[in-house]
Amino acid sequence: MKKLYILSGILLIPFISACEDEGNSVVHHQGQNCLSCHSFTSAATIYNDLRGKYDTNVNTANGYTIQLLLDNGTTIKYRQGNGHGNVLWKGDAGDVNDFTAQVLDTNGNVVNRSEKNSHHVGRLACNICHSELGLNGAPGRIVSYQYKSLKKQIMH
Ligand code: HEC
Ligand code: HEC
Repeated sequence: MKKLYILSGILLIPFISACEDEGNSVVHHQGQNCLSCHSFTSAATIYNDLRGKYDTNVNTANGYTIQLLLDNGTTIKYRQGNGHGNVLWKGDAGDVNDFTAQVLDTNGNVVNRSEKNSHHVGRLACNICHSELGLNGAPGRIVSYQYKSLKKQIMH
């Protein structure tokens, strides 16, 4: 019995240290609805794969970020979150109405976007719709490439 306790103590160490680490984890609830645990204004996970899995850094697009291009022309840039591919924004959503969601690569280039102004202030919990299979019409995960051209390639 004693041996079993010692063993489980050892097994717990990596999990405890992952919790103490404030924002530097590689794996941190990727793909989950961040806002169910956090009071950020908005948050998302960016993947290299429309069917990216939950809770892993496999196929996440580390270093990429989200930018909201608002209807009024201003932009809001997210910052890297805890866990590869995770990004978040803590600002005031008061100015946000309709927006185009853009994905930026590590150099700040727009590499993917939603339809123009198809998103709005009620869509800030990104990962709810951008789930592994996609909900409410979303094609799946938020991805780091032009998903539409890829879809066309697959279809013909
Ligand atoms: C099941 C609850 C849960 C979910 C879902 C979750 N987190 Fe966390 N998050 C935590 C806890 C607990 C901590 C503090 C311990 C730690 O760092 O792991 C934390 C810490 C953080 C931190 C560092 C501290 C801070 O508040 O700045 C960031 C950044 C973060 N999470 C971002 C995210 C993002 C982005 C998502 C969505 C992809 C997410 N989290 C999903 C529970 C969660
Ligand atoms: C209520 C569901 C819903 C929510 C929440 C949502 N989206 Fe979307 N998203 C969609 C739908 C539907 C599409 C496909 C049509 C379009 O492009 O608008 C889409 C497409 C996208 C695309 C292009 C396709 C892809 O999967 O890469 C990006 C990028 C995107 N959304 C980013 C975001 C971001 C960032 C957030 C959070 C700020 C978000 N979305 C929240 C429904 C949603």
